Amino acid sequence: MNRAKRLRAGLILAAVGAVAASFTIALTSSATAGTTLGGSAAEKGRYFGAAVGTGKFNDSTYMTVLNNEFNSLVAENEMKWDHTEPQQGRFNFTNGDRIVSHARSRGMTVRGHALLWHNQQPGWAQGLSGTALRNAAINHVTQVATHFRGQIHSWDVVNEAFADGGSGGRRDSNLQRTGNDWIEAAFRAARAADPNAKLCYNDYNTDGVNAKSTGIYNMVRDFKTRGVPIDCVGFQSHLGTSIAGDYQANLQRFANLGVDVQITELDVMQGGNQANVFATVTRSCLAVSRCTGITVWGVRDCDSWRGSDNALLFTCAGAKKPAYDAVLRELNQGNPIPPSTPNTSPSTPPPSTPPPGPGGCTATASVNQWTGGFVANVRVTAGSSAINGWRVTLTLPSGATITSAWSANRSGNTGTVQFTNVDYNGRVAAGQSTEFGFQANGTGSGITPSCSAT
Ligand code: G3I
Repeated sequence: MNRAKRLRAGLILAAVGAVAASFTIALTSSATAGTTLGGSAAEKGRYFGAAVGTGKFNDSTYMTVLNNEFNSLVAENEMKWDHTEPQQGRFNFTNGDRIVSHARSRGMTVRGHALLWHNQQPGWAQGLSGTALRNAAINHVTQVATHFRGQIHSWDVVNEAFADGGSGGRRDSNLQRTGNDWIEAAFRAARAADPNAKLCYNDYNTDGVNAKSTGIYNMVRDFKTRGVPIDCVGFQSHLGTSIAGDYQANLQRFANLGVDVQITELDVMQGGNQANVFATVTRSCLAVSRCTGITVWGVRDCDSWRGSDNALLFTCAGAKKPAYDAVLRELNQGNPIPPSTPNTSPSTPPPSTPPPGPGGCTATASVNQWTGGFVANVRVTAGSSAINGWRVTLTLPSGATITSAWSANRSGNTGTVQFTNVDYNGRVAAGQSTEFGFQANGTGSGITPSCSAT
């Protein structure tokens, strides 16, 4: 579905499904009174972010608004598959890195968008199917999440995998045709690559209890039951002139599953209700303790993919719109939440580290398996003395073949394989650890690495 059709579908759904919300705005004064979106959200333990593009980074009006108002950024396009892996196995992180670097230099957090999506795939991936596509997709997740490891607050691991309409089922796509487990395989690979990032499923037309949001709800419940590592659900919230009366209740039912919820791509058609719809979304998020942040999908009206809808909070000249005032008021009146806690996914305990021995090193492997392949993360731990280099030897199960490895030199790809440190991770202080990993076809059960200092 093209953008226009999809937006139209979203707006129709919002209009049909909507129950008129009460737009009464309380006039009571608040205990705190932040003066910027990011500042006010931070006072409530949350973030308020914007989607950005480096193409606008030399526009001073744009940068002034961005730097003054937001405490979180997401790449509108520049971390997507077509940008980050334009040719298979050749990665380009230049613009993604610029966004991360700008955010971090100003104390902003970063959302990662999006590791896997049926849209904006590079041409080479569009031409793949079956095992070749599955392996390429998981490798993409692993490489990108590894590159940005430690720098991303939340990743949209999988974007828009559910169908519109009443089925509540998956959208057909080349990724879906690799097998229904492609989503959980992606989440497991992302967790292995960046254990501290929150891992989100993200979708649109989910702004209330409806067939699509319920399909996603059932998947999240299943993932939580089976220990698939999922931490959050993103509600894009590309909205028209009204909002579903059960918008908040829908957020809350996901939160009750034990995941965070985030408003990830908020924009609202300008019209009589724009300020009220923005206010309702903000108020709803702040009323749900696990709603950890809001992102608007662009900075000013003229930066928006929605063109003449004037769907954002600032005019092209950088002036604050009435919707801005409404959002700020709601942020200042809302409930605080405790600071976020680290991920505690029952499915993926960090690899246990053996007690350090007398010098030398030890190694442990954690394996994330999917049908036909796996990613292994290997942790190397120095004993009671520092080491200046290491060699890890492991034997792969019969039929398993390594297709790529990172943060180590490798000899062999089947049977007994050796890995040695690369320049930057050979020295490990006493009792400390470093990690490397690899992706392979086949089954990874029972891998037992051994380590020696070199
Ligand atoms: O940069 C090129 C430019 O060089 C070229 O001249 C021009 C010609 O078409 O295209 C430009 O790239 C466009 C890019 O936006 C940057 O403006 C792409 O064609 C266009 O497809 C792309 O659209 C993006 C869209 O995702 C792609 O599906 C939008 O900016 C972006 O806002 C939108 O974001 C999505 C989220 O990722 C997922 N949820 C829905 C949301 C809105 O569609």
